[in-house]
Amino acid sequence: MINLAIFISGSGSNMKAIVENIKQNKITGAKPVLVLSSTAKAGGLEYAKNSGIDTAVFSYKGLSNEQISDGLIELLDKYDVDLIILAGFIKILPEKLVKKYQGKILNIHPSLIPKFCGKGFYGLKVHEAVIKAGETETGVTVHYVDEGVDTGQIILQRSCPVYKDDTPEVLQKRVLKIEHEIYSEALSVILSTLSF
Ligand code: GRF
Repeated sequence: MINLAIFISGSGSNMKAIVENIKQNKITGAKPVLVLSSTAKAGGLEYAKNSGIDTAVFSYKGLSNEQISDGLIELLDKYDVDLIILAGFIKILPEKLVKKYQGKILNIHPSLIPKFCGKGFYGLKVHEAVIKAGETETGVTVHYVDEGVDTGQIILQRSCPVYKDDTPEVLQKRVLKIEHEIYSEALSVILSTLSF
């Protein structure tokens, strides 16, 4: 059984989709052992607690990169975590942590990387940029996390149309629906291929 840590910062809808799919045995071989949030305000924490999953709030505030790495690694070791799932986690992981978990950290990004990604491209800003650029399609990317921002090896991508009258909010909803499907699909692929 692979121990999962899911990192969130907001509503955690991607985390919920994954946990629900695990509960319904649509994802097998993995157990969510920890939901970690960068802020106590994350709506997803309530859901995790109600699902019986241990939670932790880990703020980067006032910590050095070294202290952030050591603090996160201590938590991950305590839960014997095998795979880290970033699901709307807005903080950058320190290099020391990324190196320790090389090939064992996944992220989801609401665009077709390499388009509209990297520093400053998150949340609604992504969809605003897609619409402003006049794109006729966008989509979702699930990728491994490396030392860069949204630069790791791509695991799975899926596209969707962009319509002329789309607002960023309407487009975000269309993209999020795909996120909730593709993340679980990507996780199942990883679980079936990776030997831990
Ligand atoms: C999603 O759009 C995801 O692609 C991005 O952050 C957003 C988080 O949504 N990384 P949620 O917290 O999973 O609802």
